[in-house]
Amino acid sequence: MRVVVVNNFDSMSDEVAKLVIAQIRRKPASVLGLATGSTPLGVYRLLGEYHKNGEDFSRLLTFNLDEYVGLPGDHPQSYRYYMEENFFSKVGIDRTRTHIPNGVASDLEAECRRYDELIRSTGGIDLQLLGIGSNAHIGFNEPGTPFGSETQVVDLAASTISDNARFFASLEEVPTKAISMGIKSIMQAKSIVLMANGGSKADAVLAAVKGPVTPDVPASVLQLHPSVTIVVDQAAASRL
Ligand code: PGA
Repeated sequence: MRVVVVNNFDSMSDEVAKLVIAQIRRKPASVLGLATGSTPLGVYRLLGEYHKNGEDFSRLLTFNLDEYVGLPGDHPQSYRYYMEENFFSKVGIDRTRTHIPNGVASDLEAECRRYDELIRSTGGIDLQLLGIGSNAHIGFNEPGTPFGSETQVVDLAASTISDNARFFASLEEVPTKAISMGIKSIMQAKSIVLMANGGSKADAVLAAVKGPVTPDVPASVLQLHPSVTIVVDQAAASRL
């Protein structure tokens, strides 16, 4: 596990964007695993700038980590909508190359199987981007999720629902379930970049990097992966 500590949100975004660009230059048809939330917003903005300056994103395939159950892709808080707004529309990628679990599928279990099969059929994710929850979740794999889990329907932890309530008009509007790529699915990525900024992530980063490897701290599983880079700002690294 390589830990890179940088000054602030902007330098974290810059560092991670450079890692993504290096991956795309090495392999233009890379399969990228993508994250949502506040943390990667700067990375997506910078990747949009790279595209304006001529970087080619057209051969990528992308798979997002998760989607809320019950929100259609045109709902402003759905992750399909977020990705459209913040990334896909900025880098000229054909939407048929972009994959996000369908949170309104009539058969959610079948949707989870379909998603894992689709990832497998591409040969697997080359580079997976991750944020981290204040409870150390990755994707929406909340504490207690078995490390062997594949893509599945999950109940969101109360802390996640309150963390994410800032995006909704009220706490009651936050979905309580999501489809999330599983821990095993994430660990099958060839390389992983986890990013975190802000003091609210300091305990989670400490537990993930230096604590025991346990399902109670989902991100601690990354200690077992052969190619992980953690890019954290000083506030998120303050307890390391
Ligand atoms: P955030 O979420 O980027 O909005 O802090 C991170 C996560 O929950 O994985």
